[in-house]
Amino acid sequence: LKLGVLISGSGTNLQAIIDRIADGTLNASVELVVSSRPSAKGLQRAEKAGIQTLTLSKDVYADPLAADEVIAFELLKHQVDYVVMAGYMRMVHAPLLQLFKNRVVNIHPALLPSFQGAHGIQDAYDRGVKVTGVTVHFANEVYDQGPIIAQETVRIEEGMSVDELEANIHAVEHVLYPQVVDLLSAGRVHVDEDNRVQILPE
Ligand code: GRF
Repeated sequence: LKLGVLISGSGTNLQAIIDRIADGTLNASVELVVSSRPSAKGLQRAEKAGIQTLTLSKDVYADPLAADEVIAFELLKHQVDYVVMAGYMRMVHAPLLQLFKNRVVNIHPALLPSFQGAHGIQDAYDRGVKVTGVTVHFANEVYDQGPIIAQETVRIEEGMSVDELEANIHAVEHVLYPQVVDLLSAGRVHVDEDNRVQILPE
């Protein structure tokens, strides 16, 4: 399974995917990493792993559709099967989503549909919920509302700081995301007509 990974920041989820590919537990290859920020630390992770990178900064590609177009061109050029959004802080729009229908995945640091948006960890913490978690879903035209592929819970224990919660969320992400990508690779993720996901047996 050939992947294109979209990042904007530290790229720890990208790293988790790179590491699982390297140790043979994830059957895939990262063909291209696209960043919306030149300073994204994930770009260094990609380069270290010998992966081609492309940076489309907001200053140069202010028009989001133009950015998407370049991304689509590059993904096709690299014959990418799936697009993995890993901390990508821009929207992906209809033309690119249609080109990769049910082949763009995203990871969200809360249990969707709760705590959508850019601050899922902090928002859950501030609300005082006792259980939050991680969601991996397909991206569609409605932000944070695509078909849910997998979820994992994370408890917010008494007296836990938001930093501790964040560390626990990330630890779960780094296990869950490569697992889901491996399910995709095995062709075991089926989206039905009602936009619900079934994981097919092995
Ligand atoms: C993760 O928490 C992910 O859920 C959210 O952005 C963060 C990306 O972290 N969408 P990283 O760049 O993979 O380290």
